[in-house]
Amino acid sequence: MKCRKCDNKAVINMRQHKLALCSHHYLSWLPEKTEHFITKYKMFDRADRILVAVSGGKDSLVLWDVLQQLGYEADGLYIDLGIDGEYAYSEESKRYSDEFANSNNLKLIVAEVTKMEGASILKAASLTHRGKDKPCSICGLTKRHIMNRVGFEGNYDVLVTGHNLDDEAALLFGNALNWQVGYLARQGPVLDGNPNGFIKRAKPFCRFYERETAAYSLLRGIDYIYEECPSAVGAKSIYFKEILNQMEMDRPGTKLQFYLAFLRAKENGAFTSDPGLIETPLRKCDSCGQPTSSPDECAYCRMWGRVRERMEAN
Ligand code: AMP
Ligand code: FES
Ligand code: ZN
Ligand code: ZN
Repeated sequence: MKCRKCDNKAVINMRQHKLALCSHHYLSWLPEKTEHFITKYKMFDRADRILVAVSGGKDSLVLWDVLQQLGYEADGLYIDLGIDGEYAYSEESKRYSDEFANSNNLKLIVAEVTKMEGASILKAASLTHRGKDKPCSICGLTKRHIMNRVGFEGNYDVLVTGHNLDDEAALLFGNALNWQVGYLARQGPVLDGNPNGFIKRAKPFCRFYERETAAYSLLRGIDYIYEECPSAVGAKSIYFKEILNQMEMDRPGTKLQFYLAFLRAKENGAFTSDPGLIETPLRKCDSCGQPTSSPDECAYCRMWGRVRERMEAN
């Protein structure tokens, strides 16, 4: 198969776009599209200070690479969760993030959960009922909190993550399955910030299939951690991804259609009548100062407080 734009051999065929491209044209197509999404969804501009949450995986490293090429100023944030397992998952992910930052002369901020809170995610999970089945819920809460805190306190204008279409479609599937209107209303390419302490968030890759960012990393020679988090085995999000992959195989474009139709419905006001959307007044958490709707401590401080109590008791 030939490239749509020149006579060279195509290296990728995107059936959903009816578009096949050679390596050279693919490497310019993905950043051009990214720029289009950044503008279309009003994510940020070149005057903004951007913080990229970097996991050491392909999506976030490719995103950091693309932002640089497009001329955006972006620092990285790696959160070391202290997940070891069969292989040193967190250590390895950090190594890839560090290597990328060093070879591109970029600033990487590292937040170490074990140093900050006195225990790793796995230790915390073993000590609280919230982590009884899986550490993912504690991990998610911790990542969101740290991303917001570092972003807000560091005076960044926006925090960006590498979530791709496969991630977003699986998240949407889960939210729709349980008809979680509050979550549906907040899901999207951009979540506006709040001057009381929430940083604006954006997902510039939310319309790219995972294979598209993977192809880009391969063609650009970006090294990343291949392994998934060992604790994610059996997670619901992976199960949803498998189901959606099956549908995508039978009907190419299903995931993109699902996500875009959702964004249109949202734009047309489909999720605005939810009572959960009425703004709950925010105040500062007594311990960390981050915004919270609870009367004393935020969910993060309460959770880690319980972990410390149990560690002392043991
Ligand atoms: P995941 O939830 O693992 O699918 O990751 C989605 C996005 O969250 C990634 O593309 C990163 O932008 C961000 N992320 C995940 N894990 C970390 C981490 N340990 N440190 C910083 N950012 C992360
Ligand atoms: Fe959070 Fe695996 S990355 S539990
Ligand atoms: Zn070409
Ligand atoms: Zn707090």
